[in-house]
Amino acid sequence: MKAILLTESGGTDKLAISDIDTPVLQDNEVLVKVKALSINPVDIKTRTGKGVYGRIKEQMPIILGWDISGEVVDVADSASRFKAGDEVFGMVNFPGHGRAYAEYVAVPEHHLAHKPKEITHEEAAAATLAPLTAWQVLVHQGQVQPGQTVFVHAAAGGVGHFAVQIAKHLGAYVIGTASERNADFLKELGVDKHIDYRNQDFVQEAREVDFVLDPVGGDTTRRSLEILKPGRKLISIVGGANEKVQNVAQERGISAANYLVQSSGEDMEQLAALLATGKLKAHVSHVFNLDEIGKAHEQIETGRTVGKVVVVV
Ligand SMILES: NC(=O)c1ccc[n+]([C@@H]2O[C@H](COP(=O)([O-])OP(=O)(O)OC[C@H]3O[C@@H](n4cnc5c(N)ncnc54)[C@H](OP(=O)(O)O)[C@@H]3O)[C@@H](O)[C@H]2O)c1
Repeated sequence: MKAILLTESGGTDKLAISDIDTPVLQDNEVLVKVKALSINPVDIKTRTGKGVYGRIKEQMPIILGWDISGEVVDVADSASRFKAGDEVFGMVNFPGHGRAYAEYVAVPEHHLAHKPKEITHEEAAAATLAPLTAWQVLVHQGQVQPGQTVFVHAAAGGVGHFAVQIAKHLGAYVIGTASERNADFLKELGVDKHIDYRNQDFVQEAREVDFVLDPVGGDTTRRSLEILKPGRKLISIVGGANEKVQNVAQERGISAANYLVQSSGEDMEQLAALLATGKLKAHVSHVFNLDEIGKAHEQIETGRTVGKVVVVV
């Protein structure tokens, strides 16, 4: 099968298309023929030796990627949730070795959900790591309730655009930051109040919020403590809640923590139900072919992607 190997950490020139053996199934795995996959900033971080590179660097060959949508073509004897011919999607083995940049991927069946027939493989591949992060942060970590105010930084990005829709679904009032050029996009997603973070100070524009989702880090994390109600919570997905930030939060009677998304077929089924009814939509702004993987990485590296970048296989 064709796969993109990471020959060593570095630039996009280290991503090499190769012919390798189709993976052999382990217990509880299914073999998925990939139709589309999506790219996340962690792919770029890992390619350059950061991200989860340390966890997977000994497991040759290194194949990046975690987000897939495709069709089940084989099932281990011990697996029972899916059968050949089922269309599935999910985030594979994160934060381990996903090996998703390939024509076939072996996936623990409990990382997958049935792909809703109402959406394309491109949309399904886009709706994996990013909305799973938003779901796990808002539902499990934040336990967001109807009527609460949720503040989403980077609301036009991969995680952000799903977080806005999920927070609205949970009944929250949603404040989102993005540059002015994304103001209409945020409105379409359902944002109640847009803050142009380049020209406005979010601390002056938002007060007394119940929950902050932080995909930015640094000063943004630190200053977000100023807009939270006492007793409420900030979750950073970029490690912004360092010891200093956590201490300041504690002094103010609020909580600040970091979070790393985990593969979960159960959560994927919840997302699938929302995607099937159109309550949740993946916005795919760029589509590339497998042999253009370097270009797909370069798009994410701009830091300005609206929604998601997808690669068709
Ligand atoms: N811990 C975890 O489990 C986890 C999971 C997923 C992602 N992440 C991390 O979260 C970060 C975001 O991921 P992503 O997939 O959403 O990235 P992305 O799609 O590449 O984000 C791009 C968006 O960020 C916006 N942006 C950039 N700087 C901003 C700022 N200072 N304030 C507000 N918006 C800003 C841009 O909007 P404008 O063009 O309008 O500026 C753009 O739309 C990455 O570092 C990623 O690795 C962590």
